[in-house]
Amino acid sequence: MGSLGLDVKVGLMRLVFLGAPGAGKGTVASLLEERLGISHLSSGDLLREALRKGDSLGTEASRYMKAGVLVPDDLICGLILNRIERLGNNCSFVLDGFPRTKEQAEAIDSLFRQKGHKPVDLAVDFQIAPAVVVERLAGRRVCETCRINYHVTRIPPRRPGVCDRCGSSLITRPDDRPETIRKRLEVYEAETGPLLDFYRSQGKLRTIPGDQEVEEEYGALMGLLKEEGLADAVS
Ligand code: AP5
Repeated sequence: MGSLGLDVKVGLMRLVFLGAPGAGKGTVASLLEERLGISHLSSGDLLREALRKGDSLGTEASRYMKAGVLVPDDLICGLILNRIERLGNNCSFVLDGFPRTKEQAEAIDSLFRQKGHKPVDLAVDFQIAPAVVVERLAGRRVCETCRINYHVTRIPPRRPGVCDRCGSSLITRPDDRPETIRKRLEVYEAETGPLLDFYRSQGKLRTIPGDQEVEEEYGALMGLLKEEGLADAVS
């Protein structure tokens, strides 16, 4: 195990974060990256980056994202499997927002088998009530440069509209409008059952409550990783 954090030693791990839009997947994954050096790969961020760069894939994907529906599997797999492969077999990472369907989960397993890479260790489902989701997403502001998430009242920046870390402007995501949030929740409900069953059948599905304070969620995840032998407390 490598000692990457102040009080936790972590082993090589591959995590998948599942949960409704706004469940806090990205917020906790960013903390894992910052504190423990575990790479955070967000499918939504990769799609938004492709759009910013003017890639045709990003332009095509943005039509689906604006409508709050899933980008087709072939488009998203083409983008993200390549990035996962480039991380190699010696890097710990958390996948946030991918897979979203059973087909995407099968595509990850197949890639790891083909390349002889360590498979996914755990799929962690952040459970949260829809009413909390709507409040969180309506108040979300994102740094346009370093991607950090804030919330106007619950996790506010020190200066309104300005990122604490890099000083760039904070923006509202176009898909955080109330009607698009509702659509994203519907899509999540429709797609999530088979995906949860997929990881449950592999004995890899775990849950943590997504409606706690951020540090409580992070603590719950650390507890889970220790139970699973993926992290150790340093005495
Ligand atoms: P994506 O970017 O992945 O969005 P999402 O899954 O809808 O998830 P979010 O980023 O909205 O939520 P989150 O759980 O990360 O919450 P966060 O930490 O930000 O996908 C966008 C679109 O891209 C999709 O609709 C789809 O079109 C497409 N797409 C992406 N991946 C795809 C795939 N694999 N296949 C097909 N299409 C795909 O937190 C939310 C807010 O709450 C923030 O303001 C945060 O500050 C606040 N907050 C977080 N935790 C707490 C807390 N504990 N207490 C209080 N506030 C909190």
